[in-house]
This record gives sequence, C-alpha cells and structure tokens, in this order.
Amino acid sequence: MRAARFHEHGGPEVLTVDEVDDPDPDHGQVLVDVEAAAVNPVDTYFREGEYPVPHLPFVGGSDVAGTVAAVGDGVEHFAVGDRVFGTGLGNGMPGSYAERVAAPADFLAHLPEGVAFDDAAALALVGTTAWQGLVHHAAAEPAETVLVHGGSGGVGHVAIQLAETMGARVHATASPDHADELESLGADAVFDYAREDLADAVVDAGGADVIVDLHMDQYLQFNADVANAGARVIGIGNDTSSGGFTDIGVTKGKEVRYQFMSMYNADDIGAVLARLADLAVRDEIAPVIHETYGLGEIGEAQRAVLEDSFVGKLVVTP
Ligand SMILES: NC(=O)c1ccc[n+]([C@@H]2O[C@H](COP(=O)([O-])OP(=O)(O)OC[C@H]3O[C@@H](n4cnc5c(N)ncnc54)[C@H](OP(=O)(O)O)[C@@H]3O)[C@@H](O)[C@H]2O)c1
Repeated sequence: MRAARFHEHGGPEVLTVDEVDDPDPDHGQVLVDVEAAAVNPVDTYFREGEYPVPHLPFVGGSDVAGTVAAVGDGVEHFAVGDRVFGTGLGNGMPGSYAERVAAPADFLAHLPEGVAFDDAAALALVGTTAWQGLVHHAAAEPAETVLVHGGSGGVGHVAIQLAETMGARVHATASPDHADELESLGADAVFDYAREDLADAVVDAGGADVIVDLHMDQYLQFNADVANAGARVIGIGNDTSSGGFTDIGVTKGKEVRYQFMSMYNADDIGAVLARLADLAVRDEIAPVIHETYGLGEIGEAQRAVLEDSFVGKLVVTP
C-alpha cells in the first residue's frame, strides 16, 4: 500500500509517499481501508519531533474514515465491510495517512450511511475534543454563554455547533473575515480577536460561563477577566508560548475553574464518536471542509493548517 511517512523529523519537506506492507490488525484492532483522513496541527508536532513517535520512518495522521477490511482477535462490534470512522491514531502507533491503517476498535465508531467519509474524518478529532471540553469537563448547560476562542479553526467551528445544539448562547473570537460564516454555523456573536477593546466587548455581551480556549497563549488572563461567577475555562490549544496570568487573584473571587485537557486522555472515544455521528446524520453538526488534498500533498496540507486563514478542516484522500 501507499503511505505518507517522515524518515526524519523536520518541516513538511520530510514527508514522502512510500510503498509499504499492509498492516496486520493485532488483538483488538480493526484494519480500515482509508477513504479519508484529516489534517490537524498535532500532526505537525509529531513530524517536527515536538511530540514523540515510537520509530522512524513513521506514518502520521489522527483521523480516519473508511471501510473495515479485516478484524483482529477479540473484536466483536465490527465486521468486514462496515463503514467506520475514528481518531486518536498516529500517537504511539502508525496513523491514517495511508491506504490502510490498523486502528484499536475502541477508537472507532460505526458511520451511518448518511454521513460522508470526508465529513466523518473531518469531524473525528475536533468533534471528540469539543465534546470532551463542553460536555465532560464544562458540563455546559442550556442558556449559558459559551465563548470559543479560535472559532474559525477545526475545533472551534465544531465547538460552536455543539454548544449551539446544547442550547447555549455562543460567542466566538475569530478573524472578522470569518464572522458571517461562523454566525451561519450557530454563533450569536463573533468578536475580532485583534480588537483592542475585546475584553470590554465580551463583558458587555454578557461575559462567559464556559470558555473553550484554543489559544491559551493569548487568553489565560483575559479569560479570568471576562469570566462570570462560577465559569469553567477549558484549556485546549496553543500552550507553547509564554502568555500567562498577570493577576490570578481575580479567578478566586469568581470561583473560576480551569481544566486543561488532551483529547488523547479520553477513554471513551468510540462512544463519543457514536454520539457525534448521530448529530451529524441529523445535520446538527456539519464540519466545513475547506480543501481536500491527495496523499502526495500532505506536506502542503500540513503547512496550510498552521499558516493559512480559513474556516474548518483540511481533508486528505489516499
Ligand atoms: N488539547 C487537545 O486535546 C487538543 C485537541 C485539538 C487541538 N488542539 C490544539 O488546539 C489548537 C487549535 O486546534 P485546531 O485544530 O482548531 O487548529 P486550526 O484549525 O489551525 O485553527 C486555529 C484557528 O485559530 C485562529 N486564531 C489564531 N489566533 C487567534 C487568536 N488570537 N484568537 C482567536 N482565534 C485565533 C486561526 O484563525 P486565523 O488563521 O484567521 O488567524 C485558526 O482558524 C491547536 O494548538 C491544536 O494543537 C488541542
């Protein structure tokens, strides 16, 4: 089969498409014929060596959607020919930038006929992350105000839709170019993240009961300042820069709870994906696919995910 691999750590140029043996599904694994994968910033962290990989050369790629080609011992819920989607791959095990991938059955869910493979791949990691943040950690309630920092991104544009489906009032920070599209996805208000009076504007609009933060480098103190009493702040993304608290005391007066999370810690990925599939088949959540790339274009896709400004996701088809 063909697989996109990096033989050394480095920039997008280290990725090559190689002919490799098909993987064998181990105990508890499912072999998936890949119809679509998706691009996430984390793919670049593994490629660069910022996050560890078990060996080189290595096949990255977290998300998969496709058809079951074989099942390993101990797999009961999937059979050859089933449509499936999943995430959490490429972390300690080879990923989905290939024609076939062996995936733990726990990381997969059945994919209803009404959801396309590319939509499923686009939804998997970002939907699981948004669910873990909004449902598990924040326990967001109807009529609360949810603020999503990074509303145009992969996680953000799905978090907006999930929060809206949960009955929340949804606010987001994003580039002004994307405001109309995010409002069409369910945001009640979109604030230009570059405006100087951003904190005042958010407070004037009702503050925030839940904050989904995909840019902690920018917003740790900001979140404390705009939070309502009892707010929950879910720290998810961009944790590598130096932005921090300048006045942590304000969080105590408001009893603000901070929860920092990693999607990789979720122990119920398959169950969350099944819920997301149900929302997708009912059009409650519809990932936006900005562009689709071939396997040989993954380097360009990984450059674009970090550098270009767009709403939604990039997808790869082998
Ligand atoms: N902890 C976890 O489990 C987990 C899971 C998924 C993702 N993440 C992390 O979360 C972050 C976002 O992931 P993603 O997949 O959504 O990335 P993405 O698709 O690249 O989206 C990032 C978005 O943030 C916007 N943005 C940039 N600066 C901003 C600012 N100051 N305020 C508001 N928005 C801003 C960008 O818009 P413009 O291009 O228009 O500036 C872009 O649309 C990444 O750091 C990723 O590694 C963590």
